Amino acid sequence: MREQYLQEMGITRWVRREPDSVVVGNVVPEPAEETTEVELTVVQTPDSHMVNELDWPELQQQVSDCVACDLHASRSQTVFGAGYQQADWMIIGEAPGNEEEQQGEPFMGQSGQLLTAMIEAMGLKREQVYITNILKCRPPENRDPVKDEILACHAFLRRQIELLQPKIILLLGRVAAQSVLDTDALMKDIHGKVFKYKETEIPVVATYHPAYLLRAPGEKRKAWQDLQIAMNIVSGEAT
Ligand code: URA
Repeated sequence: MREQYLQEMGITRWVRREPDSVVVGNVVPEPAEETTEVELTVVQTPDSHMVNELDWPELQQQVSDCVACDLHASRSQTVFGAGYQQADWMIIGEAPGNEEEQQGEPFMGQSGQLLTAMIEAMGLKREQVYITNILKCRPPENRDPVKDEILACHAFLRRQIELLQPKIILLLGRVAAQSVLDTDALMKDIHGKVFKYKETEIPVVATYHPAYLLRAPGEKRKAWQDLQIAMNIVSGEAT
C-alpha cells in the first residue's frame, strides 16, 4: 500500500534516513514567489485573551465572524481547518485558494491530492490528521499573505494548536515555516530540522509545500526525508 503512495509521490525506493544524517544544502530552494505590495489597514486584532478561552466550535465561529484584516471583505467563506481534533499530527499550510474557499476545507485542489498522498505514504489517513492554514481567508489572486494578515490570524492558529496539543506540527512551505518559526531563514536551511513551537515542547518540522513539489517533482525525495524525520519523532524513535 505504502509503495503505491510513494509511487504517486514519485518515489520508487525508500532508503531509511538516520537521524544524524540530516544534511542541509544542495537543495533547490522554493523560489521566492512574486509578491504584490498591498496597502492594508488592520481594523482590529482578535483579542488573544478572549480567543484563548474558546473551545473548538466557539473558535470556528470567531474565525467566521473575523473582520480583523481586509481579507474579510473579499472572502466568500473562511476556511478554519479540517480533520481529527485529537490528532497527533497537525499540518499547517499557507492560505486557502479558490477551491478551498469554495469548499470550506483546506487542501482540496491539486496540491491537496499530493498532500493526501504524502499523508498516506506515512501510513496515515487524511481523517487521522488535522490540517489548517496560517490564514483562514483566501488572499486575492492567490498572492502571498502579508505580515499584517498573518499577525491578525495568528491568535486563531495558536488556539488551534493549544486545543489540539499535537505530537508534531508539520509546516508546509516557506510562508508557514517562516511565520510559525518566526524567522526569515530560507527553506533550504529550515526543512528537515526539528524545532519547538514557541515556548512549548511541541516539535515542529518544516517541509516543502505540495504546490512547490508539483512544480519541482525532483524535490519529493527531500520532502519524504523530512516526513521520515517527523514520523520518527511521533513514533518516539527521535526527539
Ligand atoms: N495551499 C495551502 O497552503 N493551503 C491550502 O489550503 C491549499 C493550498
